Amino acid sequence: MAEPAHGLLARMMLRKTVEQVQRESETSELKRTLGPWNLVFLGIGCIIGAGIFVRTGSAASLHAGPAVLLSFLIAGVICALAGLCYAELSSTLPVSGSAYTYSYATVGEFAAWIMGALLLLEYGLAASVVAVGWGGYVVSLLGDFGIVIPPELTGPAGYPILKDGVAVLGANGQPLHTLFNLPAFLICAVLACLLVVGVSESAKVNNIIVAVKMTVIVAFILIVGWYVIEHIDTLKQNWTPFIPENNGNKGEFGWSGIIRAASIVFFAYIGFEAVSTAGQEAKDPKKDMPIGIIGSLVVCTILYILVSIVMTLVVNYKMLNVPDPVAVAVDALGPQWAWFAKLVKAGAIVGLTSVVLVLMYGQTRIFYTMARDGLLPRVFATVHPKFKTPWVNTIVVGIITGVAAAIFDINALGDMTSVGTLLAFAIVCLSVIWLRRTHPELPRGFVVPFYPVLPALGIISCIWLISGIEWNVLVFFFWYAVAAIVLYFVYGMRNSRLYHGVDDNGRPLGGAMAPPGVQP
Ligand code: ALA
Repeated sequence: MAEPAHGLLARMMLRKTVEQVQRESETSELKRTLGPWNLVFLGIGCIIGAGIFVRTGSAASLHAGPAVLLSFLIAGVICALAGLCYAELSSTLPVSGSAYTYSYATVGEFAAWIMGALLLLEYGLAASVVAVGWGGYVVSLLGDFGIVIPPELTGPAGYPILKDGVAVLGANGQPLHTLFNLPAFLICAVLACLLVVGVSESAKVNNIIVAVKMTVIVAFILIVGWYVIEHIDTLKQNWTPFIPENNGNKGEFGWSGIIRAASIVFFAYIGFEAVSTAGQEAKDPKKDMPIGIIGSLVVCTILYILVSIVMTLVVNYKMLNVPDPVAVAVDALGPQWAWFAKLVKAGAIVGLTSVVLVLMYGQTRIFYTMARDGLLPRVFATVHPKFKTPWVNTIVVGIITGVAAAIFDINALGDMTSVGTLLAFAIVCLSVIWLRRTHPELPRGFVVPFYPVLPALGIISCIWLISGIEWNVLVFFFWYAVAAIVLYFVYGMRNSRLYHGVDDNGRPLGGAMAPPGVQP
C-alpha cells in the first residue's frame, strides 16, 4: 500500500506466465479421473436446474408471457458466445480455477481477484438459489403424500406465509412469517459432506443423477408435447398474444419484459463453464474441455426451447408463478396424470441435487486455486490426506451456501448470481482477445470462429443483458464489488505469492510476468 501510484497499478496488473499456469496444473495434487463424457455430464449436471424447473415460471408469468421462448433464445445465444470463449481458454490453459485463472494469466492479478469475487456469486450463490428451488419441490412432493413441513421452516427469513394468496394468521391474530429454509440448508450440508469424500465418487453419483434428470425432461417434452399436439386447436389461444402488451412498467411484458425475462432465464444456462473448473481433474483437458463445454450447452439449449414451448402452450402463462411450474404444466393434463406430476417432482428434486453438487464443487476448486496463489488463506488449499479433496474449504462453502439459501429470497439470490455471472462472462470474452494479442503463438485446441467479432459481441451482449436486472439488485451488487476491492488491498495484494515470487511450496517461481516497475 505504501507503493507509489505507478507501482500500485503495476502490482495490480501482475500476471502469471502461461508456462507457469501450465506448470501448476502439472503439480496439482488432485487426481485426473474425468473423461469427455464425465465432463459433458458434469456440465449438464450443473446446467439443467432451478432455471428451468423454477425460475421459468415467474419469468413467463410476470415478465414475458409465452415469449419467454424468445428470452431463452436470447440468453442461449449470449451463453454460446461466452461458451466459445470458455472453450478456447480452457483448451489453451487447462487448469483448475476456471475464469479466475484465465484472468490471472491475461489481464492480471486485480482482475483475477475481481473474477474470484464474481465466481463466488456464479457458483456459491447459485448453489444457494438451486438449493431453495430444491426445497420448493421437496415441500410440494411431501405435501402430495400428506407430509407437511411447518411453513415457518420452508422460506427465507421474514416473508409472510400465504395460503391461496391470503396471509396465514397465528394464534395472536398476527400474520405468520417464514423464519428459515430448513430443506435448503440441509441439502447444502449433506452435499458438502459428499464432496469432502471425493470427486470421483461424486462424479459417479452425478452421472446417475444426470441420467434421471434427462429422462424426466425428455419424458415431460414427449408426454406434454403429445397432449399439446392433440389439443392444439384450443391450446393455441394460450399463445394469443404471443408477446403480451407492456403494462406501462418497464420489464413487465412487451419487449422490455422479454429482456427482463432473458436476464432471469439466463440463470438456467449457468453451469456449462463449470466444466472448465475441472481442468486439473480432466484426463485429456485440451481435447475434452471444449467437448464438455459446447456439448453440454447445445444439449441443454435444445431441451429448454422445447420445454418452454410445451409449458406455455399447455397452461396459460399467468398460472406459472409457482415454486413448481413444471408440475403445474403436468397437472393440466388431467388427474389421470397425477402420478407423472409426482414423478416429475421427484426427478426435479434429483436433478436439482446434482446442480447444487456441481456448483459447490466448482466453488471449492476456485477457492482452492486462489489459496494456492496466496490470495486466500492457505487453509483453503489444505488437501485431505485420504480423500485428496480440499476438505476445509468444502466445509466453508457448505456453510456459506447453506446459510444464504436458508435466509434469502430466491429471486434476489438469482438476480445477484446473474449479474456476477454476466460480468464474469464479459471478462472471459475480453481475456480471449487479450491472449490472442499477447500470445498468438500458443497452441490452442479450439479457436473461437469469426475472431474478434464473436468475443466482442459476447462482451457487449453480456453488459446489455445486465440492463434487464432490477435496480436494487444492481445497487446491492455495487456495494459487494466495493467490499471485494477493499479486501484485495487489505489481504489479497499483500499475500499474493506471485508478488513475493514463490509458489505454494515456498519455491522461487521463476518466470513470473512482471509489468515494468515490479520485481517479483
Ligand atoms: N443453470 C443452473 C440452474 O438452472 C444453475 O439451476
